[in-house]
Amino acid sequence: MAKIITKRRLNPTVTLMEVSAPLIAKKALPGQFIILRVDEKGERIPLTIADYDREKGTITIIFQKVGLTTELLDTLEEGDDILDFVGPLGRPTELEGVKKVAVIGGGVGCAIAYPQAKYLHEHGVAVDVIAGFRSKDIVILEEEFQAACDHLYLTTDDGSYGEKGLVTDKLKALIEAGNQYDVVIAIGPIIMMKFVCKTTEPYGIKTLVSLNPIMIDGTGMCGGCRVSVGGQMKFACVDGPDFDGHQVDFDELMARNAAYKEREAQVRRDHACRLLNQEVQ
Ligand code: FAD
Ligand code: FES
Ligand code: MG
Repeated sequence: MAKIITKRRLNPTVTLMEVSAPLIAKKALPGQFIILRVDEKGERIPLTIADYDREKGTITIIFQKVGLTTELLDTLEEGDDILDFVGPLGRPTELEGVKKVAVIGGGVGCAIAYPQAKYLHEHGVAVDVIAGFRSKDIVILEEEFQAACDHLYLTTDDGSYGEKGLVTDKLKALIEAGNQYDVVIAIGPIIMMKFVCKTTEPYGIKTLVSLNPIMIDGTGMCGGCRVSVGGQMKFACVDGPDFDGHQVDFDELMARNAAYKEREAQVRRDHACRLLNQEVQ
């Protein structure tokens, strides 16, 4: 059991929870994740360790409500317990020996990119962050990123905040302006990561992406999270979730992640109907 210490809504669909998990907080590093189960009937879902406080013994998770489990998680309040909370899982991001880095987050992917930016900034690395959102009303973590980088560039698709345009436009402009990045770290929608990799490839800039295939056990046993990297099969939960983006088969990942879309939508609709019926009775 892990107690929710604080709960904060970051935008209409994204919630931050600080959770008491001293053993995980002791070991956690940027790039790692936890797997949780809300209650005894619940499925297991992976969420990135967005932050950790070793002294307080807490882990921060930031999640977007996209389906049944994230909606159920969002019904929990401060003082409530999450039944299972397991981690830290996955390999930490390899961040040694770099001097200048661009960290790119797309939407809720910013929550996953934040710990890398913070860690690098704390360790004296020059960090430029490009955070992209659809529009102003869903911008998250602006203040946190300001404190965790040298330059923060905010972009929105519709121009309602920051610069109008895509993160890839901004990245290309920064590279063309002479910024020499040792590594680009890109985390967000699969399509965004794919196009960041296409942007950096001609310049030969190493690009790390954090992959988000469907995970079940998180220990390399079930094979659910398999991805193709450099023509080889890898399990994102134990070999990743970070990989060399120039080697990733993004189209296969997109197809595999969409495999249960209809079923996921059905389960969400059924649950909403059950809640509605309970209210009527
Ligand atoms: P559903 O309706 O069941 O599914 C919606 C979509 O979520 C699916 O189409 C699929 O793409 C994805 N998904 C569903 N089940 C799983 C699963 N078991 N494993 C992985 N993806 C799944 N999201 C965040 O909002 N914040 C995070 O910090 C975050 N970190 C992640 C870290 C890793 C390593 C991975 C693999 C995924 C991460 N995700 C994160 C995605 C998150 O796990 C899914 O959004 C969540 O599982 C959706 O569950 P659901 O029941 O609410 O939605
Ligand atoms: Fe089962 Fe990775 S989630 S092997
Ligand atoms: Mg689900």
